[in-house]
Amino acid sequence: MKTFLIVGGTGKVGSRLAEVLRGAGHGVRVASRSGGDVRFDWREPGTYVAALHGVDGVFLVGPGSATDWSPALGQLLNVAASEGVKRAVLLSARGVEFLPDGAVGRAEKTLAAGPIPWTVLRPSHFAQNFTEAMFVPINGQILAPVADGAEPFIDVKDSAEVAAEVLTNASWENQTVEISGPSALTFDEAAAILTEHAGRRLSFIDEDPDQHARNLRAAGTPEGYITWRMAMLGGIRRGDDAYISNGVERVLGRPATSFAGWAAREGSVLGLTSA
Ligand SMILES: NC(=O)c1ccc[n+]([C@@H]2O[C@H](COP(=O)([O-])OP(=O)(O)OC[C@H]3O[C@@H](n4cnc5c(N)ncnc54)[C@H](OP(=O)(O)O)[C@@H]3O)[C@@H](O)[C@H]2O)c1
Repeated sequence: MKTFLIVGGTGKVGSRLAEVLRGAGHGVRVASRSGGDVRFDWREPGTYVAALHGVDGVFLVGPGSATDWSPALGQLLNVAASEGVKRAVLLSARGVEFLPDGAVGRAEKTLAAGPIPWTVLRPSHFAQNFTEAMFVPINGQILAPVADGAEPFIDVKDSAEVAAEVLTNASWENQTVEISGPSALTFDEAAAILTEHAGRRLSFIDEDPDQHARNLRAAGTPEGYITWRMAMLGGIRRGDDAYISNGVERVLGRPATSFAGWAAREGSVLGLTSA
């Protein structure tokens, strides 16, 4: 059995990945600024060595998409190589195709040019964005500037299982693996499924994209993040992000979890929160 470092291991993907790896008998070291096994901050290179010492592989969740963090990633990869780390897996996103020169695209390039074997994992939008992140309903309304664009939402649990496999199996080295749910749904369709499992009516409201950006700006959101978010949401709105990626099936040998299947497992939480 091996030991893996999960940078961002207290987050949505990292915490589920830790469970999968522990369940398979591996050692896990969770790293984040607070609440993990080891304190790690992307902005403090002095925290890299202790986190990476003695681990076989590292899973990397970056510090966000507002500013270019590829220099920090380059530094981390050099430390990893000198500590004998054998593999690095980067959590990227499918939206890279809509903003190739953004922070996430640069991180992918830095990883591929780095000193240790790598895998890039590019998920589609998470189903859990409706329960834990940007699409959580407010007063029963899911507000997003996506019109009738469809998205093949992926269950974060599937992302974590794929991450565990590519982290522990050399056959996925030096590749980009794209993963999505099995079919694309409009936000109206997603809201109808969630209504069924939440036990209360949830509706989708299309938002004007310029208004969405203005609201983010008014809330003090960094400009780099707004650019990235609008690029991703624009991809959905145009219908360009509706395609299916078969990475779950390729890596795990089973179909990806459907949105309805995920909602049956976790959607009831929306009946209890955000009145
Ligand atoms: N949401 C989606 O639909 C979606 C789809 C595809 C890809 N992604 C990608 O998924 C990634 C986010 O993953 P997630 O949703 O699992 O994360 P998350 O739930 O937002 O959690 C972020 C994690 O990173 C840690 N972190 C934040 N800033 C840090 C810093 N400066 N140094 C060290 N650790 C830091 C946080 O812990 P502390 O705050 O304690 O440090 C936490 O563990 C992003 O790169 C995004 O592009 C998201």
